[in-house]
Amino acid sequence: MSERVIRFAVLGDLHLNRTTERRGELLVDYSEELTASAVERVNREGVDLVLQVGDIADGNFRTPAETMLDALDARRLLDKLAPPSMTVMGNHESIYLDDLDTAKRVLKMPDTAVTELDGVRFVAVNSSVPGESKGAFSPAVAAFLENELASHADRGVPTVLLLHHSWNLDEGGRYSVENGVEWRARLGRSKGVQLVLHGHVHRNMATHQDGVLTVATTALVCKPLCYRLVTLREGSGRWRATSELRPATDDPQIHRVADERMATMNLDKRWKERPEDGDFDLPCRSDID
Ligand SMILES: [Fe+2]
Ligand SMILES: [Fe+2]
Repeated sequence: MSERVIRFAVLGDLHLNRTTERRGELLVDYSEELTASAVERVNREGVDLVLQVGDIADGNFRTPAETMLDALDARRLLDKLAPPSMTVMGNHESIYLDDLDTAKRVLKMPDTAVTELDGVRFVAVNSSVPGESKGAFSPAVAAFLENELASHADRGVPTVLLLHHSWNLDEGGRYSVENGVEWRARLGRSKGVQLVLHGHVHRNMATHQDGVLTVATTALVCKPLCYRLVTLREGSGRWRATSELRPATDDPQIHRVADERMATMNLDKRWKERPEDGDFDLPCRSDID
């Protein structure tokens, strides 16, 4: 029996912003170059799908109209992706854009979306809350998740869930979906969700909880200036996931500036102390079954 293999790329928060202001450790001043370079490189990877985790624009120092123009520029670059792609809304869209219904349509960020590839379902949901950094599932998204996952749970189809916010860090805080632990328990293994991909925390990390592997991919504008490649391989009746980080650019000037900014980073101590957290070069290699 032939082995099924699915390869996809994860693009972290793009934070495209044409401001000349500095933004802490984020290289927003190189965001356009980094996005263009990452898109070009991902196109050479020959992946089946690209997942983008939200925050395609960065609203700091920008008016809502300027943020929308930045987001449209990010969208134009994402439209150059050769493989099919899915993207979700981030808090930078939900906070800084005026007209979210229009934004969802023109930026191609529907509240819910499903793609099935060779027996694996990719479910993307909007976890952003208008005007807030923290996440939550709206009643409509929550109902969609319950129904969508329940209807496929008994088929034994693995599901990859894509959202902007974490669901297992900073419970109740600005980085997490409200009631994230409860959601994880409800939507985890019993409903077929085996792999969760998110952004927002601007760190690369992987955690196993409630039988679910949750993988955060750092912002494209943060060291190590990378995107993530994931390979799902079916063998002996189960799927395995292998992940690796790939550089978004080799430009030495951009890496030098990124190193300088990193030196000023104020890393969240709680996350640094978590033994399961990876460092910035985390390659995660894990079973999803
Ligand atoms: Fe972000
Ligand atoms: Fe975010």
